[in-house]
Amino acid sequence: MLIPEMSGRASSPVLVGRGEQMAALEAAFVSVRQGGPSAVLLGGEAGVGKSRLVSDFGRTAASAGARVLTGGCLELGTDGLPFAPFTAVLRDLVHEMGADAVASMLPGRTTRGLARLLPELGEPDTGGDPAEARARLFEEVLRALEHLTRQSPVVLVIEDAHWADRSSRDLLTFLIGNQRALSGLLVVVTYRSDELHRTHPLRPLLASLDRIAWVERIEVQRLTRQDTTELAARILGRTPAADLAEALYHRSEGNPLFVEALLCCDGELSAELPESLRDLLLESVRRLPDDTQEVLRVASAGGETTGHALLSVVSGLDDAALTRAVRPAVVANVLHPRGDGYAFRHELIREAVHDDLLPGEHGRVHSRFADAIDADPALVPPGRAAIEMAHHWHAAHDSPWALIGAWRAAAQAGRAVAAAERLSLLARVLELWDQVPDAAERIEADHVRVLEHAVSAARDAGEYERGIALATSGLRELDPAAEPARVAELLVCRSHFKEKLGRKDFAMDLEEALGYVPADVSPTTRIDILLALSHCPPTMTIERSYTEEALALARQAGDEAKEASALLTLAMFNADPGQQAASDSGPLELITQARDMAGHRGAEDVLLVAAVNESHLLEGAGEHERAASVARSASEGADALLLSRTSGSVLAINRAEPLFALGRWDEALAVADAAMDRFLAPGPMHRALLRVITGSVRLGRGDLTGARRSMTTARDALRSVRYEDQHQLPLARLEILYALAADGPAVALAAASQAMDRFELGGSSPRYAWPVVVAAASAVLAGARLAGLARDEQLHADFAAMADRLRTVAEKLEAFGPAQRAYSLTFAAADADAARLIAAFPDGSGSGADAGPAAAPAAPPALAAWDEAAAAWDGLGEPYSLGETLLHAAEAALALGDRDSAASRLERAAPLAAALGARPLGEQIALLARRARIRLDLDDGAGVMPSSGDGAGELGLTDRELEVLRLVAEGRSNREIAGALFISPKTASVHVSNILGKLGVASRGEAAARAHSLRLFDPASTA
Ligand SMILES: Nc1ncnc2c1ncn2[C@@H]1O[C@H](COP(=O)(O)OP(=O)(O)OP(=O)(O)O)[C@@H](O)[C@H]1O
Ligand SMILES: [Mg+2]
Repeated sequence: MLIPEMSGRASSPVLVGRGEQMAALEAAFVSVRQGGPSAVLLGGEAGVGKSRLVSDFGRTAASAGARVLTGGCLELGTDGLPFAPFTAVLRDLVHEMGADAVASMLPGRTTRGLARLLPELGEPDTGGDPAEARARLFEEVLRALEHLTRQSPVVLVIEDAHWADRSSRDLLTFLIGNQRALSGLLVVVTYRSDELHRTHPLRPLLASLDRIAWVERIEVQRLTRQDTTELAARILGRTPAADLAEALYHRSEGNPLFVEALLCCDGELSAELPESLRDLLLESVRRLPDDTQEVLRVASAGGETTGHALLSVVSGLDDAALTRAVRPAVVANVLHPRGDGYAFRHELIREAVHDDLLPGEHGRVHSRFADAIDADPALVPPGRAAIEMAHHWHAAHDSPWALIGAWRAAAQAGRAVAAAERLSLLARVLELWDQVPDAAERIEADHVRVLEHAVSAARDAGEYERGIALATSGLRELDPAAEPARVAELLVCRSHFKEKLGRKDFAMDLEEALGYVPADVSPTTRIDILLALSHCPPTMTIERSYTEEALALARQAGDEAKEASALLTLAMFNADPGQQAASDSGPLELITQARDMAGHRGAEDVLLVAAVNESHLLEGAGEHERAASVARSASEGADALLLSRTSGSVLAINRAEPLFALGRWDEALAVADAAMDRFLAPGPMHRALLRVITGSVRLGRGDLTGARRSMTTARDALRSVRYEDQHQLPLARLEILYALAADGPAVALAAASQAMDRFELGGSSPRYAWPVVVAAASAVLAGARLAGLARDEQLHADFAAMADRLRTVAEKLEAFGPAQRAYSLTFAAADADAARLIAAFPDGSGSGADAGPAAAPAAPPALAAWDEAAAAWDGLGEPYSLGETLLHAAEAALALGDRDSAASRLERAAPLAAALGARPLGEQIALLARRARIRLDLDDGAGVMPSSGDGAGELGLTDRELEVLRLVAEGRSNREIAGALFISPKTASVHVSNILGKLGVASRGEAAARAHSLRLFDPASTA
C-alpha cells in the first residue's frame, strides 16, 4: 500500500556548514557521558536547518551508542492536544521495546500513569487528585528515562517547542530541572525563534531555563554566502555557475529551505521568481498533476501526519487510487511516507497549501475529517479522536459540533491530567455557548456546570485570575437559596485563587461560604472551610472560634485526620503572638497529639504539616538543633512526590534557618540550594526565604556580589506576593546589613529608614521585627562612631534621629522566648553605646574618659550589656551573633581602658569567626586586636588574618602618614596637624594629599570615614 521513500534530489545528502553548532552539541553529549546534566535549546527561523542539524547530530550520537528519542510538538498542541511530543516518544519506545518492557522500567511495574499519555498502555489511572496524578505522571516519565540512561546515554529531542502545549512545557521544565538526577540524559529542544512574539508562552520558559547552569542556548543562523553556494552544489551535484550562485544567495538570504525551493528539479533557478515564500513553496506543488494536488489539499487539513486510511476516506479515493495520486508528490519530495501515513516534507509547505484552500473548501475538508473520525475513531492514533474532532469542527466553524467536540475533548484532557488544555477547551465551549441554542441539552450540562468544570481546570492549571473570573460568573448565575452547596463550593474555589494571588479579601469568600454550609448538611465541607479560615495569616484577625468549631465537628464526626489538622492550627494560635514555643510547652504538646493521631490514620500530609509547625515554633524559641532535626527527619521520611508537591520547600527553609543560626553554614547552603533545584517551582515566598538564607551566608563570608545576587532574586520574588512579616522582614534585615557592609553606615541608615517607613515594625510580629531592629541598631552604632570621627554634624543628627526612632519601636516590641530575648539584649547594648557616642559628639573617640568639658556627662561604655547579650547568644548556640557581640564587648572594654577584658573577648571571638569562614568579622576582630596591641593567640590554626596583614600597611601608608591620617580623622586642620607633629603646614598638606591618593578618596571627611571603616584608629589605639 505504501510507497517506498524515493529521494527527489531536492535536498543535500550532507550537512553543510554548522561546524560550530555541531561542536557545541557534541560537547554537551560528552559532558552527559561523563555524568553531568546538559540541555541545549536550539533556536532559529523556520527552515534554517534546526531539524536537520539535530537529526545529523542524532545519527552521530546513535553511532556512539546513544539512544535517541525524538518527539515533535504539533500545532494541535496549541489547540488543546496535551503532551504531544512525549506521547510520540513513548509510542516509539513501546513499539521498539514492547509495553511490558516499558512497564518494567517503572516503580511498581505499572504503566497506569503513563497510560494517561498513551492509551495503548492499557487502562489509565482515573480519578484522584489531578495535581497528584500529574506529579506522578511526571515522576514516571523521569523514572523511565532514568532507567534508559542506565543502559546507554539518551538524547531526548523535543522538536518545535514553539507549538508546545502547556503540559508539555511543564513536563519539559520538570525534566530539565531534575536532570541532575538523570546522569546520561541530554535534552535538545528546537523552536522557531521568529515565531516568538512578545507574549508567546515559550518566552518565559526559555528565560527560566536559561538560568539553569547546565542549559545552553544556541541560535542557528542563516548560511553564509559560501555555504549557500556549497549547499546548492550538493543539491545539484555540481558547482553552480557564479550568477546562479549569486542569485540564489540573494533570493534565499541563506535560508536552506528557500535554497531547496528555489532550485527546481532540473537544477536551474526557478524561472519566474515568486513573490512570496508561500508562492515559492507552492511552486513545487503546482507542478504536480491535478488529482495529486487535490489530495495534497485534503492532507494539508489533516495536520502534521495523516494516516493513509483516513486520507482515503476523506478524499473519497479508494486505496489504489489514493496510492496513485500520492505517488507523484512523494517522487517530487513534497510528501514523505511516515508511519502508516504521509507527512509533508516541511511543515511550511503544508501551511502554504492549507492557507491556499478557498474558504468554502476549507470548511468542507475539515468537516469531512471530523465526520470520518467520528464514524471510525480508529483512523487516528489511540486517544486522539476527541481532540482531532474538536479541532476539525472548530476549524470548519460548525458551532454546535465544535461545542460538543470541545466538551468531549475537555473530558479527555482531564483524564490526561492536562489541566491547561482542559481549561482552554472549556473556554471554547463557553465561547460558543450563545451560538448554540440548545447547548445545554446537547452536552447534558448547564452553563454553570461548564463554568464549574472550568473553575476546577483553572485551579489545577494554576490559572488563578481566570479562575476568579469564572467563579464569579458562576456565582452570578446561581441562586443561593436553591443551591447553597454549589454556591459554597464556588466561593471556596474563588477564595483559594485569591489567596494564591496574595489578595487580602479571600477570607470574606470563606466566611460567606460558611453561611451556606451548616454542620448538619456537610460536616466535612464545613470543617475544611473552618480550617482554611483558621489558616488566614495573622495580619487578619481571625476568630479562634473557627478552629475550635472545626475541632469539635471533627471529633463528633470521628475524623482523626481533620481533628489532627485542627489541633495543629490550635497549636499555632496558642503559640501566638511570639510565634515560638519551647519543646516542653503547651503548643508542642498539641502538636505531639496531632502527630500521633495523624500517624495512626496514616495521614502523611498532616504529618508533614505537623513537622512544619513544630520546626517553625522550635526555631522561634531558639531551639535550633531540635528544629533542624525535626525538619530533616520529616523530609527524609516522607514520600518524595508528596513532599515536592506540598511542604518540601517549607521544610527546607525550616531546616536551613536553624542550620544558619547554629553556624553550620555549608549545610544551610546545601539544603537551600538543593531545595531550589529540587522543588522546581517553590512559590515566590519560599524562593525568597531560601535566597535570604544563602544571601546571609554569603554576606557573612564577605561575598558581597553573591549576597547581592541572592537579595535581588528574593526581592523580585516578593514583589508579587501578599505581605507577610515572615517573608518581608528577613529580607529587610539582610538589606540593611548588606548596605552596611557594602556601602557604609549612611546607606545602611537609608535602608533602615526605608524598612521602617514600609513596615510598621512596632506592630509587627516580634519574632521577625527584632532582627530588623537589631540590624538597624548596628548601622546606627557604626554611624554614630563615623559621625564622631568625621565630625559630621548632619550625619550625627541623622543617626541620632534614627536611634530615637528605633528606641520607640523597641519599646513597643515584646520579647518572647530566649531567641527574641537575645535580640532585645543586643539591641539594648547597641543602643546604649550609640547613645553614648551621640551624646559625646563631637568627640570622636566616644570614650568617657576623653569627654571634653562641653559634652554632657557621658554614660560609660556598655560592656556589661554586651556581655549579657553575648551570654544569651552563647546559650542559644549561635556562634556568629556571639562573635559579633564579643567584638562589640571588646570595643566597650577598650573604651573603658580595660585591655585584659578586651583581650579575653577577642580571643573567644576570633576562632568563632574563623570556624565560620566569616572573613569580614575575622578581619574586624584582628584589626581591633592590632590597634589595641593585643596578641591573639591563634596557633591552633584558626588564624583570622595573615600576620603580615596590616590595615594601614596594606594601603601603603607610611608611619608618618598614618599619624597624619589619625589627626585628619580627628578633624584637625593642616595648621593643627603641623603644630602637633612639628612640621610645616605645607608639609602637612602634602602628606594629606598623598593620603587621599592612597586611600582613593576625594575629601578629608571621606578619608576619616575610610579610616573608620578600616578601624585604623579605634579608641583603643589612641588610649
Ligand atoms: N546545513 C544544512 N545542510 C544541508 N541541508 C540543510 C541544512 N540545513 C537545512 N537543510 C535543509 O533545509 C531544509 C529545511 O531545514 P529544516 O527542516 O532542518 O529547518 P528547520 O529549522 O527545522 O525549520 P522549521 O522551523 O520549519 O522546523 C531541510 O530540507 C534540510 O534538509
Ligand atoms: Mg524543524
